[in-house]
Amino acid sequence: MLEKISLQGKFFNCCISVSLSSGEKNGCKSLHSLLVERQRQAEKSVLISCQSKTNEKKLLKYLSRHGDIKRHFFYESYLDRQITSLTEFYQLTEENIRLRFLVCSLLKDIAAAYFPECTVKPFGSSVNGFGKLGCDLDMFLDLDSISGWTTELTKSGLLLEYQMKPANSERAVTQSILSVIGECLDQFGPGCVGVHKILNARCPLVRFSHQPSGFQCDLTANNRVAMKSTELLYVYGKLDPRVQSLVCTVRCWARAHGITSSISGAWITNFSLTIMVLFFLQKRNPPIIPTLDHLQDLAEELLCEFFEFYATFPFNRMSINIRKGQEQNKPEVSPLHIQNPFESSLNISQNVNTTQLKNFVTLCQESSWLLYQSKTMSPKGVAVDSTTTTWGIATLLLPSRVPGIKGHRKRREPASERIKSLLESLKYKTQQKKTKD
Ligand code: CTP
Ligand code: MG
Repeated sequence: MLEKISLQGKFFNCCISVSLSSGEKNGCKSLHSLLVERQRQAEKSVLISCQSKTNEKKLLKYLSRHGDIKRHFFYESYLDRQITSLTEFYQLTEENIRLRFLVCSLLKDIAAAYFPECTVKPFGSSVNGFGKLGCDLDMFLDLDSISGWTTELTKSGLLLEYQMKPANSERAVTQSILSVIGECLDQFGPGCVGVHKILNARCPLVRFSHQPSGFQCDLTANNRVAMKSTELLYVYGKLDPRVQSLVCTVRCWARAHGITSSISGAWITNFSLTIMVLFFLQKRNPPIIPTLDHLQDLAEELLCEFFEFYATFPFNRMSINIRKGQEQNKPEVSPLHIQNPFESSLNISQNVNTTQLKNFVTLCQESSWLLYQSKTMSPKGVAVDSTTTTWGIATLLLPSRVPGIKGHRKRREPASERIKSLLESLKYKTQQKKTKD
């Protein structure tokens, strides 16, 4: 009777094994009788796939109407658990986030010598929910309260008044402000080393290392658009934890294969990559964002589909536009075109060259194939060396076997160590879970 129960829809996150057996106790048995007993149990068991958020009690009550349930077990799929572990492993910790805000506050104290009412705010991956441990600290000096003419009534009733010196353009003002602050940081900023003023960039900035916290910092000014895109990403990430997990997994995968890099250059940036994931989620049929209803759908399936989507995306003709949720004809010749959602004339991936895009597409093809194999194979693993075996997501983080992907092996060395320890932790968590079950 139970075998005939089928729940509507496609479910991947959680499976239940319901045993109807009333069989004998295992006790001390010969191997033969143990095998017989196990086989009998198996014959009287059913496996039901259901959603991760299924109410266990309700489901069991419903099932009991069809027969007595001797034992039941709930467990998640391996692939899904791997994605969750990966996200947990890398995501910013509470202490790390607090430290980021503390550095902003210290910088504000320094900048306040020139601009008493200023604030320094973090943006980018430190606060958008997609930050990984070790990501840089993007900050912007907010001079809104003092730019131009601003008047403020103090408690004493006296009028405070600031006036900025008139300057040629907003950009020139930003450059001179950052130049002064950069100089001050270099000379007097406690623990601030390797200060570089990069004032001619499209978005002028001061880059430095903050030694006590270990953060690589980028300080900008007058960068409202970046704040808006930070908020946009934050909102998308909050729609469902799986959005965050998918972004995190794709980021780890891209880093492991040298698709992204901590050094500036022609690589795809994490920001571009995140927009690509969001675009994929919008384009998916049915779309995953922004409709919450559809978020109940598949989990690890998304990763596989993500790779398939970009393995076949017409990058040569089309631009990615998350404002419209549609690809559009490329307005200019550049290998990868991703429209900035808040400044439509800008391509956020202008820096990416043809080789880097090709590497990305090739790896998407390879990874979708590897995931397809993981889905069709049992999780017994692929041998990495004599002591380590991997399976599922972990296989994706190993060096690529595609001969076309060149020049990444040297750069990948430090990442391999981290990945090895990550694999260990994934293995450990899986074992722990198995023991519990
Ligand atoms: N940004 C933007 N347009 C760009 C590049 C960046 O609007 N062309 C904004 C985005 O809000 C981005 C932030 O600036 O999140 C910081 O950029 P970056 O440090 O490159 O990306 P992060 O998202 O912080 O990712 P990472 O973890 O690699 O630092
Ligand atoms: Mg950043």
